Amino acid sequence: MSQVQVADRLQGIQEYYFSKKLREIESLNREGKNIINLGIGSPDLPPDPAVIATLYEEALKPGQHGYQSYKGAAAFRQAIADWYKKWYGVDVAPEKQILPLMGSKEGIMHICMTYLNPGDQVLVPNPGYPTYASNVALTGAEAVTYALTEENGWEPDFEKLEKLDFAKIKLMFVNYPGMPTGRAASRELFEKLIGFAKRHEILLVHDNPYSFILNDHPISLLSVPGALEVAIELNSLSKSHNMAGWRLGMLLASEQRILEILRFKSNMDSGMFLPLQLAAAKALTLDKDFHDGINKIYSERRKKVEALLTLLDCRFDKSQVGLFMWAKISAKYKDGYQLADEVLYGADVFITPGGIFGSEGDKYIRISLCGDISRFETAIARVEKMQQAQN
Ligand SMILES: Cc1ncc(COP(=O)(O)O)c(C=O)c1O
Repeated sequence: MSQVQVADRLQGIQEYYFSKKLREIESLNREGKNIINLGIGSPDLPPDPAVIATLYEEALKPGQHGYQSYKGAAAFRQAIADWYKKWYGVDVAPEKQILPLMGSKEGIMHICMTYLNPGDQVLVPNPGYPTYASNVALTGAEAVTYALTEENGWEPDFEKLEKLDFAKIKLMFVNYPGMPTGRAASRELFEKLIGFAKRHEILLVHDNPYSFILNDHPISLLSVPGALEVAIELNSLSKSHNMAGWRLGMLLASEQRILEILRFKSNMDSGMFLPLQLAAAKALTLDKDFHDGINKIYSERRKKVEALLTLLDCRFDKSQVGLFMWAKISAKYKDGYQLADEVLYGADVFITPGGIFGSEGDKYIRISLCGDISRFETAIARVEKMQQAQN
């Protein structure tokens, strides 16, 4: 082994929690366990058949296999613009204000690399998607968390935020519907956020991948007038169209911001496979029936998850939306890790401890709605058996 060390920027950056935990689950399974993983939000339902047919038909054509434009295929950008108009009532210019991405996770990194210098500060939600803070740290900038609490309806406490010293704060990440909290987006909140960003001259980055899941009213931050002056929105087909593994997302911003981000992104990758982009364009034309079909299945599973959470003596808000259920643990557990470990080692069921999303999630757990309904039923039976053995 040579003496080569990892770069300083990786100091303090841990392997992604799920990457580590999945290895542990695999090794438990190799020992003969059959762990039911209720942790990860990877949609198990298939994309629409017309989407797969488009991918196949386009891939058969000989002319489709070369490098693609750095700013994405025109047909995909047009489909994104039409989708934003149809569902969110937002006008975006397909030529100038849209950048297709390989998933929104990639966009978070591009934004951080494009705008952050060491020493800059970035507001990130606690609890929130861990990638915001880790990508900020990778640039040498500092993630400053803002608390989201149940008392405050999982929304930022603007009174507290106003008191911050903004000298070094450059960017703020927000995410509604919220992951992991399940808090729905609202027009009022979005207006407040845009006002806040304008007042303090920061760039607001809204991550919006969950607006179609168990949510009747998808909203975009960009529907607030003047939003493009201060905001970027990320969106994705991963959850909305059951295409997480296809890696298809999008970034919407002013022309200036798109050009700035392209200065970084065009040095990173060379565009996406054209048939994928054309299949994504097809997916974005799907109508309400497609989403209703998915949501019917998720709402049936959710009833089972609610039963499981009740069995675990957890408390939860029934109005939450998105791909997960977020629930407060019983006071008899120190934190969500203790409950998750009890269920993992005692019932062979993996659930996510809320603490991985930040300290404000310590007393919570998150259960994913992905997976066949029979898995939830088996999980309930296993937990019941564990509890009987404990009594
Ligand atoms: C809040 C949030 N943002 C972004 C992502 C990444 O999504 P994508 O598959 O589009 O990269 C996830 C995935 O779990 C997420 O939960």
